[in-house]
Amino acid sequence: MKVRGLRISLFLAMGICVGCGLLGAYHLHAQQQQRSQINAFMLRKLDLAKDMLEGLTTDNMDKVTQSAQGLSTLSIESAWNVYTTEEYLDMSEDFRHSLSIVKNGAKSGNPDRATLGYINMTVQCVECHRFLKGKK
Ligand code: HEC
Repeated sequence: MKVRGLRISLFLAMGICVGCGLLGAYHLHAQQQQRSQINAFMLRKLDLAKDMLEGLTTDNMDKVTQSAQGLSTLSIESAWNVYTTEEYLDMSEDFRHSLSIVKNGAKSGNPDRATLGYINMTVQCVECHRFLKGKK
């Protein structure tokens, strides 16, 4: 009797372990999938920022305007707002402000102003990432 009871509880315990393991693995997989989606989204920022530099250095103001517009659009998408703290939203607002300097400079044929906006924007990229790192 005693041995049998022990066997059943062992069996149950094993079942629970396997179940938890599967659940854990599934959760991790879902998390990783979400992570790589976020990274793909974030990498588009880098592409657009490179386009902007290319536009500025080749005096292609259309390219500059397009990349600034693309970055503004990204920054209001839901995938951007993985964090919704006040500081994060403020930084996003500052980021958009620097993009408007770039756009205005490019549209009014003032590459110096657009370049200043680009530098401003780059500072915002770095600031926000440093802020996020500090929070982890
Ligand atoms: C307001 C905040 C904010 C600004 C501004 C910002 N980012 Fe990010 N960036 C993030 C977040 C959030 C992540 C995702 C990292 C995480 O999940 O912790 C990220 C991730 C990235 C990644 C992916 C890194 C990786 O681990 O794969 C790149 C590349 C990137 N950003 C480039 C840029 C560039 C280029 C700019 C400026 C043009 C910029 N970011 C501006 C918030 C920001």
